[in-house]
Amino acid sequence: MSFIPEASVHSCKRVTDKQPHIVLILAEDLGWNDVGWHNPDLKMPILNQLAADGVIFNQSYVQPACTPSRSALFTGYYPFKIKRQHQMLLNLEADGLSLDLKTLPEMLKDVGYLTHLVGKWHLGFCKEEYLPNKRGFDSFYGWLTLGTDLYTKENVLAPGYDFRDNTGVVQESDTYLPFMLAERAVDIVMGHYKEYPLFLEFSMALPGKFLEVPQDYEDLYSDIDDDRTRKFYGKLSAMDNSIGLLVEALKTRGMWDDTLFIFTSDNGAFATESGSNWPLRGNIATLFEGGTRVPTFFYGSMLKKAGYVNNELIHIVDLHKTIIELAGATTESDIDGMDMWKTISKGEPSPRTEFVYNIDDNELSPGAAIRVGDYKLITGHPDLMYPFRLLNRSDDWYNYGDEPISGILLPPTGNEPPPANVTYLFNIIDDPEERNNLADVYPNKVEELRHRLDEYREHLVPPESRIFDPSGDAVNFGGVWSPGWC
Ligand SMILES: *[C@@H]1O[C@H](CO)[C@@H](O)[C@H](O)[C@H]1NC(C)=O
Ligand SMILES: *[C@@H]1O[C@H](CO)[C@@H](O)[C@H](O)[C@H]1NC(C)=O
Ligand SMILES: *[C@@H]1O[C@H](CO)[C@@H](O)[C@H](O)[C@H]1NC(C)=O
Repeated sequence: MSFIPEASVHSCKRVTDKQPHIVLILAEDLGWNDVGWHNPDLKMPILNQLAADGVIFNQSYVQPACTPSRSALFTGYYPFKIKRQHQMLLNLEADGLSLDLKTLPEMLKDVGYLTHLVGKWHLGFCKEEYLPNKRGFDSFYGWLTLGTDLYTKENVLAPGYDFRDNTGVVQESDTYLPFMLAERAVDIVMGHYKEYPLFLEFSMALPGKFLEVPQDYEDLYSDIDDDRTRKFYGKLSAMDNSIGLLVEALKTRGMWDDTLFIFTSDNGAFATESGSNWPLRGNIATLFEGGTRVPTFFYGSMLKKAGYVNNELIHIVDLHKTIIELAGATTESDIDGMDMWKTISKGEPSPRTEFVYNIDDNELSPGAAIRVGDYKLITGHPDLMYPFRLLNRSDDWYNYGDEPISGILLPPTGNEPPPANVTYLFNIIDDPEERNNLADVYPNKVEELRHRLDEYREHLVPPESRIFDPSGDAVNFGGVWSPGWC
């Protein structure tokens, strides 16, 4: 079965016969330590092998949170230029990725790709125009908000169901969500019209935020005493298994040799609840390396040099440009993304020598960070979610089994400590763990990076003021998070 009606298969033909199929695995909240090539205790045979045979990018950066990272991937712009620098979208927020911007899947469709999103959207849903089927995806099978329970598909922050096949609601409360997604990803490949190139974004709910895992995966680690660690490791093995099924399908259809396979994460791990950024500092939604530096690799027969670790810089905006150029499409001319194909495929030096982690000049807790060469400057407040809280100490170092927290997003109590106002200078090459603040040692370096940040700041577009509209509550839509309220 195909998930695109034959009549609507693109009339626009392929621009070249060299367009690869592109499969982008966007793991969710997968931290630095959450992969087998960093943590040998993990059983991840499929991914370990693909990473070993491909090119591992050891300095690969994303935005600190899910909505900003997806915005950067889909547009090629740093989020601070497109109003997406401030936190992630919450359920009742009457906003979405700006409709003025053309998205990556839209551009791929222009050159003949059939485009599918399996998994998380999280770029706005308050009106139909924001939904994935209107933003370039021929098919969508997943959820619209920041996350759901892996069995019930209930939103994690507030009551309300959230799972759809295209625009229609699919009621399925028993099956493990990652297995549903894997099955759909396989079916998409099996039903693909092979005369067209495929773009599949598999945004896979794993490892994600919940310690829910089928028993047989947990049992793979029965020698581990700590409950959370055992369950979390089980989830990573379930992720590996799902990816294995997808790879098998691509092989069965004879598509694998023409597939560029990309594996990355949307942000760092949700430390202690599940996942580990160890030995990197900080958590998801912080400007520290733990929130932003993620495991990434590329695999495919089109890579001329492979089987090694590449230490060149790459940022998620570059994935946008690289994918689009490789597909034979054209990007907007003023984007931040760079074409990294020669670095990825041949190991040439990266054109990227600097990047902006974020600039969020909100009044309550402004925070910004930049990397130039070996140095990184953080100014203001490193925690993006303030005054919400994800961890008691967002600037600490956490590993599996450390102090648990009590929820996904702790709402402000009014007793939060005042936002920090830091000036941190780190040499990331010598000190990837951000343990030695050099701001007092190299004041000129601080000024140089601050000046560079200010140059970027001239292009900042402030976010819309956040409107939380209670009319969007799922209770007004038959208990399902739905569009139609903005
Ligand atoms: C990857 O980066 C880490 C942290 O900066 C570094 O310690 C390690 O040597 C790098 N790995 C390789 C293979 O270059
Ligand atoms: C962390 O925060 C939670 C919730 O506010 C609190 O119950 C707990 O005692 C805190 N733990 C530490 C170590 O401060
Ligand atoms: C943070 O400190 C710097 C000086 O180090 C100061 O210029 C700036 O105004 C402070 N920002 C806030 C929000 O307090």
